[in-house]
Amino acid sequence: MRVAVVALIAMTALTACGDKAEVAPAAAPQTTAPEPIETPAVNPGKLKYLAVCQGCHGRDGQGQGSFAKLAGRPAEELVKLLRDYRAGTPVGPQSATMMPFAKALTDAEIDSIADYLAGL
Ligand code: HEC
Repeated sequence: MRVAVVALIAMTALTACGDKAEVAPAAAPQTTAPEPIETPAVNPGKLKYLAVCQGCHGRDGQGQGSFAKLAGRPAEELVKLLRDYRAGTPVGPQSATMMPFAKALTDAEIDSIADYLAGL
């Protein structure tokens, strides 16, 4: 008798699971392809610049106080300066302030930041 009750409970549980599994796929019929979502082009160099550099060099790279203007300068020049800082080669008297920020950058990040700044 006890075995029959256990079997009955087990069958009830299995049946309940089966019902749920059948309902789920039918709940999301897809008749037409979804509209593509328009996202603005994200410039990785700009994002990185705004996240890391603008606090010192200014919102638009215009420079402020002793922090150099970077906007509109040739990308190759900026790449060379950033690689020098990253390598630990001093550029100016305050290089120690700048080096940690350059050391955190990859080659690709240096290139994209330089392209972004050159285009301002
Ligand atoms: C804490 C402030 C600070 C931050 C943040 C900072 N810099 Fe600098 N940066 C400096 C200082 C100070 C110098 C001048 C260092 C020297 O004397 O060589 C400098 C110099 C530079 C130079 C060389 C300018 C020249 O004409 O010699 C470049 C290029 C530069 N920074 C780019 C960046 C970029 C790109 C970032 C973000 C990844 C950044 N900086 C973040 C303070 C900062």
